[in-house]
Amino acid sequence: MDPTASEEERRLAALVRSHDRWRGRDVFNLLASENVVSPTARKYLSSDLAGRYTLPLTTEFHGETIDNSYTGTRYTDQIETLANAAAARLFRAKFATTRPLSGHIAALSALVPLLPPKAKILAIAPDEGGYDGYAPGFIPALFGYTVRPLPADGPGHRVQASVAVETIQQERPDAVVLGQSFFLFPYPLREIAEAAHAMNALVFYDASHVLGLIAGGQFQDPLREGADVLFGSTHKSFPGPQGGLLVTDREDLFQQLDPALVWRIFDNAHWNRIAGLAQTLLELERCGREYATTVVDDARALGKSLSDLGVPLVGADDGFTRSHQLHLDGAALRTSANIAPGALARRLERQRLLIDLVGRIGTAEVARLGLTPADMPRLAELIVRGGLKKERVGREVLAWRRTFHGLRFV
Ligand SMILES: Cc1ncc(COP(=O)(O)O)c(C=O)c1O
Repeated sequence: MDPTASEEERRLAALVRSHDRWRGRDVFNLLASENVVSPTARKYLSSDLAGRYTLPLTTEFHGETIDNSYTGTRYTDQIETLANAAAARLFRAKFATTRPLSGHIAALSALVPLLPPKAKILAIAPDEGGYDGYAPGFIPALFGYTVRPLPADGPGHRVQASVAVETIQQERPDAVVLGQSFFLFPYPLREIAEAAHAMNALVFYDASHVLGLIAGGQFQDPLREGADVLFGSTHKSFPGPQGGLLVTDREDLFQQLDPALVWRIFDNAHWNRIAGLAQTLLELERCGREYATTVVDDARALGKSLSDLGVPLVGADDGFTRSHQLHLDGAALRTSANIAPGALARRLERQRLLIDLVGRIGTAEVARLGLTPADMPRLAELIVRGGLKKERVGREVLAWRRTFHGLRFV
């Protein structure tokens, strides 16, 4: 440490070191919203790109036509071109942008340029597993959209084809926004897209949670099944730096939305992030299928093991999940074990096992560490002993965690 560093700088350094050790070596992370980036992507995140600008946009300035407001951008611009091409290849899309700064910004990047003011959208309500951002008080409130619920009631918050088609025909929305924060099963997308397109409605697929699975050919293939635009976070099941991306096959839509992003939705797109994202896209081109298959197989195996040990989960009739997520059945958990999902999560955190307080358990990061379906009975047993039987399993968890070195699929 620099001998002239202040007390606060030393404290900060210690906090970051402690965080890296705690989250990187001392726990099993089962948070469904998170992942871990590869060493190469991490290196690019802290490269010189972290402080740079580029604005490859033709504008007029004092009577002169310029194609970029900045100089020194020759490599930055090539990195972006490489990233966009890799995204287009991986998702087999004609057009791609890696500029959106997050999943939420990717949603804005798709909706705002393509929808009329005061548009009517159909989206799954948060209490049926939908993303809060599409609830009336959030994105719709900013842009005057009316949002109506696309039903996903019942266990597992599944969308039924006949109900969705009927809702689309009754509501006649400008757009259907698919995608959930609680996301276990694929949608009957062909039927939904056919009904939506018959009403001239666009179909947006928010893949924030399942982007890595789609990249690996698991879950479903939204662009082939009828979605007009696919977008999402690049850091949940997709194992990249925090950010977003957007792909489409429709030139008419891309030409409307791509030029509309800069200066409306954001300015600087964070080129170190884009370099890290490009690396992740290239890694998934090589081993995305194996990665996504392992994540889903782990989730289904963990579901079975937890259920065999008496942990109530939704979706039992359907193998628990087709994604990286499992959902605790909160009501049944209260009845059978007298504990709420949030209290269970807090208890598990003390035993070095991280799940979220809203009852989701995710397997993306443990698959990256190298855990396979064969490890899931042991993981389930530790969850049950530490979470339900109040045993102190932290040391056991730590010893097991320390046997995993490095990352797979990188
Ligand atoms: C379905 C869905 N869309 C969008 C988002 C927002 O993603 P980000 O945090 O990358 O902005 C989330 C976040 O959890 C989400 O679950």
